[in-house]
Amino acid sequence: MANLEVDFCGVKFRNPTVLASGILGVTASSLRNVVRKGAGGVTTKSIWLHENIGHKNPTMFGTEHYFLNAVGLSDAGMEKAASETFPEYNKRKPAPIIANIVAGSIDDFGKLAEEISKCEPDIIEVNIACPNVEDAHGKPFACVAGDAAHVTRVVRAHTKKPVIIKLTPNVYNIGEIAKACADAGADGFCAINTLYGMGIDINVRRPVLTNKSGGLSGPGIKPSAVKAVYDVYKATKLPIVGTGGIMTGEDVIEIMMAGARLVGMGTMVYYRGAAGFGKVVKEMDAWCERNGVKNVEEIIGAAHS
Ligand SMILES: Cc1cc2nc3c(=O)[nH]c(=O)nc-3n(C[C@H](O)[C@H](O)[C@H](O)COP(=O)(O)O)c2cc1C
Repeated sequence: MANLEVDFCGVKFRNPTVLASGILGVTASSLRNVVRKGAGGVTTKSIWLHENIGHKNPTMFGTEHYFLNAVGLSDAGMEKAASETFPEYNKRKPAPIIANIVAGSIDDFGKLAEEISKCEPDIIEVNIACPNVEDAHGKPFACVAGDAAHVTRVVRAHTKKPVIIKLTPNVYNIGEIAKACADAGADGFCAINTLYGMGIDINVRRPVLTNKSGGLSGPGIKPSAVKAVYDVYKATKLPIVGTGGIMTGEDVIEIMMAGARLVGMGTMVYYRGAAGFGKVVKEMDAWCERNGVKNVEEIIGAAHS
């Protein structure tokens, strides 16, 4: 068996697969179950300072090629994370945990970073990328380099934990935005959050989602994710959680060659179940075996040389 262990911001993961934010990441037992099924680490659903209701149903729509969602980041808030999810997960911590935080204002990002650090996550992931949440300017912070850097600087000042910034693919030059965050103190990145999307039910002549538009995820977005990871790696060389459309072990290898050090999977769970993590790890291992790769760290960024 190849050595699949990777180091990410000084944290050891037994393999590079991690549960992406928003899928099964609400309770300690569901997070622990994903680790039992083979994931090398987990990410929580986005945590707000206070409860956030989210959007009205229907919020999800899927085909064999892609998923559309407009869940709207529903969450019980920081208090539940601090009193239930983290204490229960950390009691018998089976694998590293990444705390994903989201806010509508830069001040709130600072407060959240301070509060969530007390929960002892291994890494803090800052979600400035969600297409369903808008800042004061009417677009996600991740769309403007100066705004993304400002959030990064404030979060950096409020925690000693490793900080990674979750980027949006819905921009012209993702490398430039990543570089601004790196200069403001980011330790790494997660790329990508969802693309924008919409589906129309032709029988009723209306959008399928109540929110009209939503986030596009799943197999069809893999090329966008691979390109984003390639560009962020080239611009910063910092560690990246490559996320977007990853379904198989060979997909994991591909996005690692673009520069990912960890690989997030969310929509994969809807196609292959939580057990998909174990299957993906076996597929990765088989690829390494066939290709004489003894240590998976060898392939990170291989497509750049
Ligand atoms: C149902 C659903 C809910 C999501 N919720 C969150 C969230 O709370 N926070 C976040 O940062 N990303 C969220 N995402 C985005 C995923 O973490 C991921 O970045 C994106 O779906 C692309 O990866 P995938 O194709 O493997 O799903 C969500 C995605 C889906 C499908």
